[in-house]
Amino acid sequence: MLKIDILTLFPKMFDGFLSESIIKRAIEKGSVEVNIINFRDYTLDPHGKVDDTPYGGGSGMVLTPQPIFDAVESLKGENTKVILLTPSGYPYKQRQAYELAKEKHIILICGHYEGFDERIKSIVDLEVSIGDYVLTGGEIPSMVIADSIIRLLDGVIDYESHMNDSFNNNLLDYPTYTKPREFRGMKVPDVLLNGNHEEINKYRHEEQLKITKERRPDLLEK
Ligand code: ADE
Repeated sequence: MLKIDILTLFPKMFDGFLSESIIKRAIEKGSVEVNIINFRDYTLDPHGKVDDTPYGGGSGMVLTPQPIFDAVESLKGENTKVILLTPSGYPYKQRQAYELAKEKHIILICGHYEGFDERIKSIVDLEVSIGDYVLTGGEIPSMVIADSIIRLLDGVIDYESHMNDSFNNNLLDYPTYTKPREFRGMKVPDVLLNGNHEEINKYRHEEQLKITKERRPDLLEK
């Protein structure tokens, strides 16, 4: 079973994430264990401080190394992958979700405030960014990473559902329809109604190429 430990200063942000829908079921089924750990509990500062002003000047507060070092060292086992969420990280891709779904134990460290002391990176295996925008902290990014991994674990959703995901084969997903056959003048394409699976597959593949070419030409170049 995969264990995911998430180090954060804002544990309540994870309440909804862990208590609804597919993630909730995955935890109940025992496909994954998720622990939310407040790394303030590890600070040796008598006032519970976990941050300080940056050397060299500049705005904002910086997370100090001690609480995060102690938390990671007490949680880490032999086969632990330690991941730091930061806008300066390597871009996160579906391919990595597949790789991480094979791990036994993952620690996700959520930064907050203006950043963290550079030395924290010495205990990290991978620095990851979820996109080219800056969020207020690593909490939402860590939920993104955890969600993308958990849905791939055995028995969480059916295999077929993720074989057709966008980004498998570097193509975006094809359009899908359900009942009714006509809604406000918009019709389901005839090809989907004729039961000819060869034609349906051909139509879907063409639609994938069309939308990928328009929106993500960078994926086609791969
Ligand atoms: N923390 C703040 N913004 C982030 C991003 N885009 N990715 C990962 N961690 C972050």
